[in-house]
Amino acid sequence: MKKELFIDGGWVQAPDYYPLYSPYSEEHLADIASASNDQVDQAIEAASRAAVVMRAMPAHRRAAILEKLAQLLEERLEEAARLISLEAAKPITTAKLEVARTVQTYKFAAEEAKRIHGETMSLDAAPGGEGRVAYTVREPIGVIGAITPFNFPMNLVAHKVGPAIAAGNTVVLKPAGQTPLTALLIAELLKEAGLPDGALNVVTGSGRLVGERIVTDDRVKMVTFTGSPAVGIGIRNKAGLKRVTLELGANSAVIIDKGTPIDKIVARSVPGAFSFQGQVCISLQRVYAHEAIYDEFVAKFVEATSKLKLGDPLDPATDVSALISLADVERALDWIGEAKLHGATIAAGGTAVGNMLLPTVILEASSVLKVSCQEAFAPIVVIQRVGTMEEAIRLVNDSRFGLQAGIYTDNIHTALDAAEKLHVGGVMINDIPTFRVDHMPYGGVKESGLGREGLKYAIEEMTELKLIVFNRN
Ligand code: SIN
Repeated sequence: MKKELFIDGGWVQAPDYYPLYSPYSEEHLADIASASNDQVDQAIEAASRAAVVMRAMPAHRRAAILEKLAQLLEERLEEAARLISLEAAKPITTAKLEVARTVQTYKFAAEEAKRIHGETMSLDAAPGGEGRVAYTVREPIGVIGAITPFNFPMNLVAHKVGPAIAAGNTVVLKPAGQTPLTALLIAELLKEAGLPDGALNVVTGSGRLVGERIVTDDRVKMVTFTGSPAVGIGIRNKAGLKRVTLELGANSAVIIDKGTPIDKIVARSVPGAFSFQGQVCISLQRVYAHEAIYDEFVAKFVEATSKLKLGDPLDPATDVSALISLADVERALDWIGEAKLHGATIAAGGTAVGNMLLPTVILEASSVLKVSCQEAFAPIVVIQRVGTMEEAIRLVNDSRFGLQAGIYTDNIHTALDAAEKLHVGGVMINDIPTFRVDHMPYGGVKESGLGREGLKYAIEEMTELKLIVFNRN
């Protein structure tokens, strides 16, 4: 099966194709178009023409297109989840949840399309402003380049395409090389939903070639990227005056105080650490447990981890499947080896079966080891004993990253202290850092990125604030 590019509302052949294989079974899934430079140019040109049409389209019409898309996707939920499972090796039950979230994301985008507004202000707060009244409006920014990762191939596309369309923009989308199938399905559904030609273009192919052209082309007014810090920083450096939103990685942590309900926390933390093989930006990677409950927490966490079922992502019983590539398995094994060498204890896992890394629990790994201080993006969790909550907060903050963090405590003072002192984009009190629903603001500080997603907040990033001043003098 050949998958073409989607440019200006139609399917376009490319000069070259690359084979796409399942990360789990290595079965050949499709041949994917590699866009040429000229084709990326054509996609940007189509998006520039369509920007005029989208800018003039009333909000109710943009909302109706997004609502229709949500309805069409809901009807094809099973098929979409199967595609995610095949291309990403995401266990099918988790893949279905992703599609359900994607439907919600587009519904939220449709709602937000109807409430994009500015504010009025009287200017006489400043001498010289007398007799003047002002109001602001939010205008579409134009062509948006969206570069998306493999780990949520539908929902992270929705977090870029949804708010972009809601705000009256157009998009040139470069999906991850390993997960283009679901992005192409969205292009098909949006066409059926009535999106004008050129308002969404999907250009698959080499990340470096296609991505580079999108980032450096002057017709593209904003780049929104989710992926690794190294690539994100590269985009920022090349983007010039374009607006840039970056959702990058993290080594997210949870703090567990004494006197907290350990069984409940374990039941929440195990999927938080190992869901989709830990390939989630807010996956639980570091646990700082108070010494009073450390032994109990570790014993129960390791026991629950040992019950996880490894296998075929299409099997509804599977909890953990293959990592996205063999290179990632090798990298993770290297990092585990380094931890062992430096005296950490491997309490579960630590080995691989083919492309599947066993869910791995590492105890007392020092904070300079890669399993602690880098983003694992693999089913690896590090558990460390702490004497006080102050020590735990200090350790969580001792990171290049700052996306989300969690703290379980029944002490309101400790909770408020953590809320104030944790240097992250979001603090989850009595939950794991992995919590996310799609309308909340989502994004990080430090090397975790720039800007916020979550429909209302993404729309703010994707619109220009314009000021209008009436002089009545
Ligand atoms: C991410 O990996 O950045 C997205 C996490 C999520 O949407 O749950």
